[in-house]
Amino acid sequence: MEKKSRKHLIIETPSPYVMTIRLNRSKALNALNKALLIELADTLRGAESSNEVRCVVLTGDERAFSAGADIKEMPEYGIPMWGEKDRLLSWRAVEKFSKPLIAAVNGWALGGGCELVTLCDIVIAGKGARFGSPEVKIAAFSGDGGTQRIPRIIGRPRAMYMQLTGEPIDAETARDWGLVVEVTPDDKTVKRAIEIAEIIAKWSPVATRMIKEEIRMNDKMPLDESLSLERKLLLWQTEDHDEGIAAFVEKREPKFKGR
Ligand code: CAA
Repeated sequence: MEKKSRKHLIIETPSPYVMTIRLNRSKALNALNKALLIELADTLRGAESSNEVRCVVLTGDERAFSAGADIKEMPEYGIPMWGEKDRLLSWRAVEKFSKPLIAAVNGWALGGGCELVTLCDIVIAGKGARFGSPEVKIAAFSGDGGTQRIPRIIGRPRAMYMQLTGEPIDAETARDWGLVVEVTPDDKTVKRAIEIAEIIAKWSPVATRMIKEEIRMNDKMPLDESLSLERKLLLWQTEDHDEGIAAFVEKREPKFKGR
């Protein structure tokens, strides 16, 4: 397995076409300082343009996926930190990542850590995972998209509860509320996320990218508009679609090329 380390990330390729990115600031519970966000964005940009990557698993460690924005960095940078260009571009790179992104969450996913989870397409959580928006406790709010994305996923009253009280929810509640797809024993979370990534990586990368883009249109557009755009993105104009049909008819495994 190929392994690369950056200052705050560990990047591995556990199987063909699958990349794992592990946040690696354990001592600060993987708090998202500016340097980590920039490394994450860079790594995703690299994965975006690589033909060797079809699905990415994003994870932390046993104690924390991420405890959110780095509170200790806040006095140093002050209010301008929130609008700072590199920070915003980094969040944008995660948001714009066009390949499937799976979160494998153990421990805390708080504040910006929970916001990062909401940018992932599928979320797998260990039984001990805790999700929350505690920003209210420091007289702030989920300003990296959380006030908008969290209610779209779990509904307004539940988002109000989380963001007005600052109280975390456990993994099973997060699953019941639609934030998490599957709860696993804590030591199986990453393994399960990789298994799902391996399934996705078998399929045509053109198809999986289009599916992600089309489902994401849900958040942005009225139904009439997104339905007509869906029709414009018809998959049967690709070589991979021809190959999928041929493989089905010939009773063999398809060989997808991403075209
Ligand atoms: N930023 C910077 N450092 C953090 C951090 C954060 N968000 N969260 C934890 N740490 C650091 C702690 O300061 C501590 O460092 P030291 O050992 O140097 O003192 C280390 O990580 C371990 O943390 P604790 O000792 O506090 O661990 P614990 O198990 O007792 O508590 C916790 C865990 C409940 C998650 C607690 O650390 C905590 O409440 N953290 C803050 C979580 C938070 O408020 N997140 C939201 C930040 S604001 C935001 O994300 C976004 C926004 O849009 C405004």
